[in-house]
Amino acid sequence: MSDTLLTVAGLSAGAGDKPILHGIDLSIAAGETHVLMGPNGAGKSTLGHVIMGDPAFDVTSGTITFDGVDITEKSPTDRSLAGMFLSYQAPVEIPGLPLYTFLRTICQMRPELKTTARKFRDEVGRLADELDLDQGLIMRELNVGFSGGEKKKIEMLQLLLLKPKLAILDETDSGLDVDALSIVSKGIEAYRQRCDGSLLIITHNTRILERLDVDRTHVMVKGHLVAEGPASLIDEIDAHGFERYERELGSEA
Ligand SMILES: Nc1ncnc2c1ncn2[C@@H]1O[C@H](COP(=O)(O)OP(=O)(O)O)[C@@H](O)[C@H]1O
Ligand SMILES: [Mg+2]
Repeated sequence: MSDTLLTVAGLSAGAGDKPILHGIDLSIAAGETHVLMGPNGAGKSTLGHVIMGDPAFDVTSGTITFDGVDITEKSPTDRSLAGMFLSYQAPVEIPGLPLYTFLRTICQMRPELKTTARKFRDEVGRLADELDLDQGLIMRELNVGFSGGEKKKIEMLQLLLLKPKLAILDETDSGLDVDALSIVSKGIEAYRQRCDGSLLIITHNTRILERLDVDRTHVMVKGHLVAEGPASLIDEIDAHGFERYERELGSEA
């Protein structure tokens, strides 16, 4: 078990006085790809945000261990520097902050990624080409006026620049057209191959998974993880939906 990267144990969390997550147990080994599925409002995004330390949520019990360190109380910045990454379902716009400055700053904070300005510019240019991103976007304000597809490609650009040990992708595929979807899924595949990182992919869309070997699938209903299984569980859910799990949970409660 020494190659376990992330362990979430008995995690309950909420926002204000609203409980959202109940006793979540989840473990991801180095290099594994996990998928998290569940109906709208189940708590999937909340789990991603709580793992990343979003102060909008309070952990009421349980622990999160990453790379052998209990990070339950750590700041999002410390988690990021330790090698965790969360791509937002709805990326935020930051007026006044040029994308290029943002990327340079987050990379400069990491000793292992420090490089010359010229090499950095070349790498950003190469990745932008690979992701079919207009080079003109690089100097614009972060996400301001960007299309949905551009925002998601920029999250992929960050992923490939930062090379985190664990990437949590929260519906990175939602609202993308076929071409953008194909580029984003190539970006995820490139991350897996180049960085040998672990993935927790929150999605409703199995197309984004076609290029990936999924190791484990988790199902969340009403803040509970109600099932865990191999990749074939995804097809089963595609065919039958979440009704069975909702019914089972309903009869238990
Ligand atoms: N910041 C917040 N404050 C209060 N309630 C929230 C907050 N974020 C999410 N919730 C609630 O938590 C539940 C789970 O939401 P979410 O994690 O976004 O679900 P999912 O991503 O599975 O669709 C929903 O009922 C949602 O309204
Ligand atoms: Mg969500």
